[in-house]
Amino acid sequence: MNAFSGLDELEKSALLEIENSHELSELEAIRIRLLGKKGELTAALRGMKDIPEQDRPVFGRRVNEIRDRITAALESKISELMRAEKEARLIAEKVDITLPGKKQPIGGLHPLTRIYYEIRDIFVSMGFDVMDGPEVEYDKYNFEMLNIPTDHPARDTQDTVYISDDIVLRTHTSPVQIRTMLAQKPPIRMICPGRVYRSDDVDATHSPIFNQIEGLVVDRGISFANLKDTLNVFLKEFYGEDTVTKFRPGHFPFTEPSAEVDATCSKCRGRGCPACKGAGMIEVLGCGMVHPQVLRNCGIDPDEYSGFAFGMGLDRLANIKYGITDIRLLFENDIRFLAQFR
Ligand code: PHE
Repeated sequence: MNAFSGLDELEKSALLEIENSHELSELEAIRIRLLGKKGELTAALRGMKDIPEQDRPVFGRRVNEIRDRITAALESKISELMRAEKEARLIAEKVDITLPGKKQPIGGLHPLTRIYYEIRDIFVSMGFDVMDGPEVEYDKYNFEMLNIPTDHPARDTQDTVYISDDIVLRTHTSPVQIRTMLAQKPPIRMICPGRVYRSDDVDATHSPIFNQIEGLVVDRGISFANLKDTLNVFLKEFYGEDTVTKFRPGHFPFTEPSAEVDATCSKCRGRGCPACKGAGMIEVLGCGMVHPQVLRNCGIDPDEYSGFAFGMGLDRLANIKYGITDIRLLFENDIRFLAQFR
């Protein structure tokens, strides 16, 4: 019987083709070609009208049987291929979790931060608090209350950046001392680190932005001896036990008497080198006894209390300590430079 043997043929070749297929896309194409609306099996079913009436139910059942077999064969082949594909992927993506991880490079502290932490730790160990203040500051706090009135020559030396008539970018961290004395009663023991601004041109030794740390102590009976001792302890701790200091007379409008302090050059330990211009000593800070008028300005009675203050440039100390000859390196953040301080 021609129609029936045609079905046998179709089944045989379909199952064989499925068995030999190795691609999911190929199987999908086979499915459409055989079982789709315009597929071969549908076409065979249409041929039913050409066979004798009594054979048609058998023929129909046979077509259904072939459809079921082809569907089952496709399904089992698809799941077989998917399983193989998954296994291949697992092998390809295999990760050896016992291998050491990739190391991420660890950053280091900026030299200025290191210097600051060192200085802060020394003063904190002596009982000082750390205070903070704004970089955009009232003229009143930056100058006026520190005994620097409008016409005072000290204003010229500080190349001030004015925001308005009475607001400046602070030229030193001293206004934080004013703020502290206004806000809290003696005894006061504080340091204030921070960025300060002066309208300097940039070169190897000048920057319009630099960093200071200042300190202030106010209490009953504070004398110049306390000032000298505190700074000696600090400088020996910071530069080494064999550090020698020299207090030279100085002038600041907000302290009286005032001094400038030299310390043994940390590069040559006093023998004389280019860093200290052969002197063996290097200027490291300014200081003095808080001027009575400054205390009075802040509501502190100078007959009852006295105090001392000091200030130093952080950038300068970093340059001396690390032998940096160009201040710009501290601000450019070139990784090749910074990586040396890890
Ligand atoms: N404020 C001074 C400056 O910027 C430093 C200083 C602080 C001097 C405290 C004496 C006492 O130059």
